[in-house]
Amino acid sequence: MLGIETSCDETGVALYDRDRGLLAHRLYSQIRLHADYGGVVPELASRDHVRKLLPLVRQTLADAGLGLADLAGVAYTAGPGLAGALLVGAAAARSLAWALERPAIGVHHMEGHLLAPMLEADPPEPPYVALLVSGGHSMLIEVTAIGRYRLLGDTLDDAAGEAFDKTAKLMGLPYPGGPALARLAETGTAGRFRFARPMTDRPGLDFSFSGLKTQALLAWQASAGDDQARADLARGFEEAVVDTLAIKCRRALAATGVRRLVIAGGVGANRRLRAQLAEAAAQEGFAVYFPRPAFCTDNGAMIALAGALRLAAGQLEPPAIAVHPRWDL
Ligand code: KG4
Ligand code: ZN
Repeated sequence: MLGIETSCDETGVALYDRDRGLLAHRLYSQIRLHADYGGVVPELASRDHVRKLLPLVRQTLADAGLGLADLAGVAYTAGPGLAGALLVGAAAARSLAWALERPAIGVHHMEGHLLAPMLEADPPEPPYVALLVSGGHSMLIEVTAIGRYRLLGDTLDDAAGEAFDKTAKLMGLPYPGGPALARLAETGTAGRFRFARPMTDRPGLDFSFSGLKTQALLAWQASAGDDQARADLARGFEEAVVDTLAIKCRRALAATGVRRLVIAGGVGANRRLRAQLAEAAAQEGFAVYFPRPAFCTDNGAMIALAGALRLAAGQLEPPAIAVHPRWDL
């Protein structure tokens, strides 16, 4: 299965085989293209996908020593995401599949993230609870089987990654701020800035991160605004987000009786989050699964995997080039 991801600012291409696993994967990130603008410019993103996608498909096939005729199908991200960016991947995938007389499979981007841990050596068996934390989403989902997902909790405002990015921006860090803020937090002093753990003092599995961002803004304005303050604030902010996510994960496991936890989405690359959940898992006797950081953020491998599973399950759609910029899981 060829997998194509173009929902935002990464062009991802991969080849997955149900028996042999991941055969090859390549990623082209547009980060430098958008950095000057402080965020993703949708039209620039679409045009860059047009330039990069087919060469990337050729290179990925060459990496695996395969040709187009070897493909059983072509999977692509059909949404949610930027409409123009999605259309580039959808048009390329549908056209390739049509020319090859193979099925094309439109994959939900979030399902890709949810299944990404299955790309690793010790894949989780459903049922599991997944914490899906990216730039656009903060969700807790119960996965009872592939294709059977129950939303347990969602964010009421900003997504976790969005809160990282916005807080980084207000302290003058370059786009994309999340990873930069996380790096800075490693040098920060613990305890100098203390933030709330939003919505942990009442029952429920929903999140709210926009208040934390406001607290960070006020603390930043009241500080000396120097490098030490920036690092210490990054540390306090990261600890607050990570603690909050960890509390809700443990609560979701308790509420469902499930003992397997999967972390997915870009914020899943965060080292403090990974360390804290690994520690909780060891202490409390549940299992935690993380995709490698490169498969936490957007990539083609998770789309190829999801497409291969859907094809095996016979879940195909009529051959139309349709994308869903907004799409419930
Ligand atoms: O899954 P993803 O690549 O794209 C979306 O579908 O949104 O997630 C990107 C998000 C960004 O908000 C980015 O700042 C955040 O994940 N992120 C991180 C880290 N690496 C990426 N946030 C905190 N710590 C990190 N190490
Ligand atoms: Zn994503």
